[in-house]
Amino acid sequence: MKVQIPRGTQDILPEAVKTWHWIEEKIKEITKQYRYEEIRTPIFEHTEIFARGVGDTTDIVQKEMYTFEDRGGRSLTLRPEGTAAVVRSYVENKMYGWPNQPVKLYYLGPMFRYERPQQGRFRQFVQFGIEALGANNPAIDAEVIALAMDIYASVGLKNLELVINSLGDLESRKAHREALIDHFKPRINEFCSDCQNRLEKNPLRILDCKKDRDHELMKSAPSILDYLNEESKRYFEKVCYYLDSLKIPYTIDPTLVRGLDYYNHTAFEIFSNAEGFGAITTLCGGGRYDGLVEEFGGPSTPGIGFAFSIERLIAALEAENIKPDVHEDLDVYIATIGEKAEDYSVGLLKQLRNDGFSAERDYTGRKIKAQLKSADRLQAKLVIVLGDDELEKGMAQIKQMKTGEQMEISLDKLPQQLKELLQA
Ligand code: HAM
Repeated sequence: MKVQIPRGTQDILPEAVKTWHWIEEKIKEITKQYRYEEIRTPIFEHTEIFARGVGDTTDIVQKEMYTFEDRGGRSLTLRPEGTAAVVRSYVENKMYGWPNQPVKLYYLGPMFRYERPQQGRFRQFVQFGIEALGANNPAIDAEVIALAMDIYASVGLKNLELVINSLGDLESRKAHREALIDHFKPRINEFCSDCQNRLEKNPLRILDCKKDRDHELMKSAPSILDYLNEESKRYFEKVCYYLDSLKIPYTIDPTLVRGLDYYNHTAFEIFSNAEGFGAITTLCGGGRYDGLVEEFGGPSTPGIGFAFSIERLIAALEAENIKPDVHEDLDVYIATIGEKAEDYSVGLLKQLRNDGFSAERDYTGRKIKAQLKSADRLQAKLVIVLGDDELEKGMAQIKQMKTGEQMEISLDKLPQQLKELLQA
């Protein structure tokens, strides 16, 4: 038997989980301020949800999905991302009929991609994402970006770069597509086989190719921004205008095309510029996907969102040397001397916990000295020392670990006394 974790996955041990909780709290706080509500969709979906939603020609669908047949012969896929699943749910639950529009949702959960693992790239990772469905207004594009930036600010990240682009509407994309085909076709044999396949199917994907990134035709490729029609141009300008007015700095990069097919109009990524962040510097990616609801059989509905992984956020925290204060104090440690005291401590421990204190004791039969040592290691604020003799008198010793001060108190006054000491 191989007692080993699968490649590209990780155990998040209790000490590290504290940082996760800290981040999740920030996320909850900020999504509440922005009024995004949580949605939980299944970990797996019918394969075609992603094949059609994310796009047949994308790396995700072609190379990275964990697809399997279940016992009923259905093809299912562990979700590689959240947007297609959320849109599936939006259509299935007829959220377009809900009185409050846009419907603003967030999710936080594991995603799966069969990628080559490296720093910041896992096969199972946790994405936080938001989707706003039902609003075709540049102000919501700005809101979505602002929310991402606010979460990063709330955890203290500073070395960030927001890069945005517009992929235009269908008409603009069509014109750009023709220009791309004309540009690459004469020399397409110099490109990798993936790009050769992409030429007719989805030439925009060529711009995203990792293998051919340095080919000279890449730099001279027609820019989408030159093919935006008036409406797309106006929309993009308004998004930029709102970002300016929110004082969110950004760079416009016409080569930013994103790795998923459903995007149009606004597309953006947030990068970490922190030294030592590693080769993959993208923290967050998102954009507008106005055709996706329709693709899934719903009414024509605009949508925009983003996602980032908690793993990369944590990597960015480490690169910026940000150490959250996640220490959790122990209120009370009960040390006992003698069997009667130990028996008594079982009920006392439960009572203290039910009174709202965090409380711990020894379960390994250690001597009093070792118990006190372990109280120290756990950074207990107070230690109750219970001895058989004191118990008979209905008394206990309380030690304040910070000052070393010790006092004898009556057991029936214990909860009140503890409260006072802990608040002092
Ligand atoms: P994506 O660019 O494929 O977009 O992924 C978004 C983010 O997920 C990345 O920026 C990164 O933080 C994280 N991520 C992706 N793959 C991995 C991995 N293998 N290991 C660790 N983290 C990873 C989407 O998924 C879109 N659904 C985003 C979106 C939402 N667009 C609109 N709404």
